Amino acid sequence: MFICHVALQGCLTLRDVPYGLTADTGGHIKYLLELAETSAKDPAVERIDLVTRGFVDPKLGAQYEPDVGEMSGKLRLVRLDDGEASYLPKEELHERHDPLCDAFLAYLENLDRLPDLIHAHYADAGVLARSAKEMLGIPYVFTGHSLGAVKRQANGGGDKELERRIAIEENALAKADAVIASSRDEAEAQYAHYRSIEAGRIRVIPPGCELDRFEGAAPSTKVQQDVERFLREPSKPIILAIARPVRKKNLLGLVEAYAGDPELQERANLVVVAGCRDKLSRLEPECREVCEELIRAVDAYDLYGKVAYPKSHDPDDIPAYYALARESGGVFVNPALNEPFGLTLLEAAAARLPVVATDSGGPNDIVERCKNGLLVCPRDPQAIAQACKDVISNRRIWIRYASAGGDAVAAYDWKAHCRIYHRLIEEIAKPRTSSGYFERLLVCDIDNTLLGDRDALREFLDWQRQNSSSTALGIATGRSFHSAQSILAAEAVPTPDVIISNVGAQVHWYDREKRRFVEDREWAKRVSRNWDRETVEQVAASLGLRTQAALEQRIGKASYFLDGHDPEKIANAFRDAEVAVEVVSSHGLYLDILASGIGKHAAVLHVADRLGMTQAKVVVAGDSGNDRAMLRACPRPIIVGNWSDGLGDDPALSHAYKASATHAAGILEGVQHYRDAGGW
Ligand code: GLC
Ligand code: MG
Repeated sequence: MFICHVALQGCLTLRDVPYGLTADTGGHIKYLLELAETSAKDPAVERIDLVTRGFVDPKLGAQYEPDVGEMSGKLRLVRLDDGEASYLPKEELHERHDPLCDAFLAYLENLDRLPDLIHAHYADAGVLARSAKEMLGIPYVFTGHSLGAVKRQANGGGDKELERRIAIEENALAKADAVIASSRDEAEAQYAHYRSIEAGRIRVIPPGCELDRFEGAAPSTKVQQDVERFLREPSKPIILAIARPVRKKNLLGLVEAYAGDPELQERANLVVVAGCRDKLSRLEPECREVCEELIRAVDAYDLYGKVAYPKSHDPDDIPAYYALARESGGVFVNPALNEPFGLTLLEAAAARLPVVATDSGGPNDIVERCKNGLLVCPRDPQAIAQACKDVISNRRIWIRYASAGGDAVAAYDWKAHCRIYHRLIEEIAKPRTSSGYFERLLVCDIDNTLLGDRDALREFLDWQRQNSSSTALGIATGRSFHSAQSILAAEAVPTPDVIISNVGAQVHWYDREKRRFVEDREWAKRVSRNWDRETVEQVAASLGLRTQAALEQRIGKASYFLDGHDPEKIANAFRDAEVAVEVVSSHGLYLDILASGIGKHAAVLHVADRLGMTQAKVVVAGDSGNDRAMLRACPRPIIVGNWSDGLGDDPALSHAYKASATHAAGILEGVQHYRDAGGW
């Protein structure tokens, strides 16, 4: 495998990158180098070229000049000469697109072998990748790193510079074979601002994060002293927040949540590490205002002796803060109004400190993946306070969340990333195959059915591989499409032929010829025809239902927490209000309100229909409440041994095969049963 990365911004070198030397010498270079270094360790990778823009600037150093290359093992750094000598910030790169494309094509044509894939980082690099695809047919993937449309949303419109950048991004996205996103928020919310990219081409692959410093961190005397001088009873559990003092981090919201809950004040102290301040007056205006508001709130609510807001810290102190909170039996809180990724949550996880995190943005993935804490609506102070109490006052839960944090270290790791990334490249770069003809279809739920027992999964996948040309693999899950796809990739499940996501509200087909997922438009139309979110929300609000995160809401699916409500009564309330919906509850936790006639069952029947199969050719497998309708509707259902929500005792499921084995082993057992019975 020969991979060619293109990253035009900043001062890129293979060794000792001068981070911060220019505004563009930042995060995307770190991402690229860490990715490339790990990628190179895979024996399947023969060569990695990094292509950047060369420039002559004595102040920045002679090593960046065009034609000064660098080598390190399989890595080669190439600097293009676009005819303009001086260093250019990213805002000016667009002026050099044409000569950069020419120089890039000349570089490619001079190679003794073309790369299998080009990976473009940031919008301008995408322009080069696109022209190489158009001229030489080399496929490319794109990583945005930071998106113009997200900035536009934060700053308001009307910025010509930003509009230009967004147009360049659209151009790069339009022809990309795949787009790599770091989080579901990026894939599902941020890219939704772009016309040129649809969900089926976006892959969520979590990046690696350096978490070594946080794993096994210990409290330091210095940090302890910095905190203790604020606190009357320093031995209480610590609610810890670490964030820059800017509005969107919502630190004031956390102080207000704490101030509004006397029971929480009784049980825990609050420690807010909000950057460093020497003199308040020397801070940037927004930071100064936020710090002043925090201090004023402590005064107004008279929280003296309970809230610590240390004046300054060294970078080395940060792991010790997490450790101190952990030793106290506390919790880390990130209450940001929106958190694009959530690195601090990963740091807390690595330090084995449970978390309470905003349900807006990247934290969804972390908590969904690691189950190391709770998500809350950042605008709901009562919910924040309650979640903190829930975590710190139950020792069993606290220990479970704390130890689950270790999963973050494994999931956000470049080696894990590269396993998925290299499989994606192989998929994109391999010769096209046309979609085959399937004789039968096997549809599996994900959580606690296909996944949950790794050894059983391996065995199942061996069977699946041997049968993949005749048996289509379908997935039916409550998760979103990207969440499903990303967890399946992380567990090395081969790309399914069809993904039914959001409890049936979406269907995506894998097009083996185009090597991408394509949404089933016919299905989407049917779902939206039966959907009136506003009315659903009105009824739900009148029942006092608590909503799940924004990312869980879809056309055709409104999701809530069950919180002890009786699903029967909820269904009645919708009937009384004459709102036709499907009410589905799972695990005693989740409540999905689906468009009328929509669900995993209806989607499976639609899929079978499109494959031209009779229902007898379909086997479905599931474990919980959101599988019930699907298992009932299909003549050949499998209930895996670890079933819940009463599936195993459901008289309407007497026709189902009840496996004694659990998880994927249960699927395999059921598959064997139906094979032996004949006709499948
Ligand atoms: C998944 C979804 C959630 C849904 C649940 C049950 O966890 O993310 O929104 O409520 O499945 O279907
Ligand atoms: Mg399940």
